[in-house]
Formats: sequence, C-alpha cells, structure tokens
Amino acid sequence: MSNDTTGKESRQVAFWRGAFGTTYTQRNAPDDWQLRSRVRMWSEILRSTVGAPPTSILEVGANLGINLRVLGSLVDAKLHALEPNAAARARLEEDGVLPADAIHDGFASAIPLADGAVDLAFTSGVLIHIHPDDLEASCREIHRVASRYIVCVEYFSDKPESIPYRGHDDVLFKRDFGGFWLDLFPDLQVLDYGFAWKRMTGLDNLTWWIFAKP
Ligand SMILES: C[S@@+](CC[C@H](N)C(=O)[O-])C[C@H]1O[C@@H](n2cnc3c(N)ncnc32)[C@H](O)[C@@H]1O
Repeated sequence: MSNDTTGKESRQVAFWRGAFGTTYTQRNAPDDWQLRSRVRMWSEILRSTVGAPPTSILEVGANLGINLRVLGSLVDAKLHALEPNAAARARLEEDGVLPADAIHDGFASAIPLADGAVDLAFTSGVLIHIHPDDLEASCREIHRVASRYIVCVEYFSDKPESIPYRGHDDVLFKRDFGGFWLDLFPDLQVLDYGFAWKRMTGLDNLTWWIFAKP
C-alpha cells in the first residue's frame, strides 16, 4: 500500500501516536540488562568520534529514551528527543531523562529543528517503521538537522521487505539502511559499522552505521 505523505503525518505515524505506541511504551522497560547492552553498543558506535565527540545529539523516535539514558552517561552532550507518542514524551520528562524544552513532538519527515541544529542525529529501530514512500524525506530531514554525524541502528535485510509486526501489516520494513543512506548522500563517510548479535548482546540483531558529513 502506497502512502505518499511526504512531510505530512502518515498512517504509520498515526499508528505510533495511538494505542499501539502507548502500549509499546508501557512494555518497553529500561531495565539494567537493556541499559548495559546499549552501553556496550554505544561505546562501540562512538569510538570513531573520540577525537571530535558530539556536543549535541538528537534521537529521532526516542520512545522513553533507552538510548538517551545511556548516552547521558557516555558523552557530555546536550540531548534532544523527537517523539510522536505522547505517553513516551511524558515518560522522558517524568523520569528526568530530558528537560521539557529538549523533548519535541513530531516525526522524522518534518523535524521541528533548524538546519545543523545538532552535531549528531540518529535513529534506532525507527526507519524500519517508516513507509518506503516516506523514507527518503525522513532521511533528508535527519541529514538536514545533523551538522557532523548520522547514526542509524536498524534491522537489516539485503532486499527491501515488509514483514508483519505483532499482527499488523505495513508497519515494519527492513532493508539495507546503510546502503540507502549512501545512495542518497554519496559524500557521507562511513566511519564504522557493526552488528549487535542477539545471542551475545540480548539486543535484537541490530545493524548499526556511523557516518560523518563532509
Ligand atoms: C521501536 S521504537 C524504538 C524506540 C527507541 N528508538 C529505541 O531504540 O529504544 C520506535 C519509536 O519510534 C517512534 N516513531 C515511529 N515512527 C516515527 C517517525 N516517523 N518519526 C519519528 N519517530 C517515530 C515511535 O513512536 C516509537 O517510540
């Protein structure tokens, strides 16, 4: 099913704003093993930035901030979250993850921040939930607001595919997202990439890339 909603709210964003996204947020406990696994993954991702660490970071689709909770202890950076689900935004504030002025209501294809507003912008398990028709506009927005680094942590498939997600169709899409980024912006420099294997990390077989803007 086509979407063609560039810059507008898609069916997929409405899905995450609604009951599905709120139930996901209630289920998504930031427990110790989750946080420890993310510390390991982010320590690897950020290794290539040690000479020039980011001083501001935006997570696009932060939910209740499992990544941001970890990043706050790993880097000295001003953190921002963009998140369409109201319950998740409330948790970010109630749990003291971020101050209210750093929590933005919105979605990837229309980010309410200025060009180059942050040093590093990233998604983790979010591009997979964006309809292919909206993916280019979403990546262009992430590229626009990031001044130095882009990080992408997603499910990988060498061919684009749509797979059922908890009984729903048209809400989970896999592909080679690293390749998608490079095809869209050939001047991005690949600083590093890696894989968080479920058997060793507990994370969900996540493939990650870190790119530098020229
Ligand atoms: C699977 S969760 C991942 C949460 C978090 N990034 C993590 O790694 O734990 C997907 C999150 O992205 C949000 N989301 C879905 N579509 C989005 C979009 N188009 N733009 C920004 N966020 C979106 C959802 O509301 C949800 O909080």
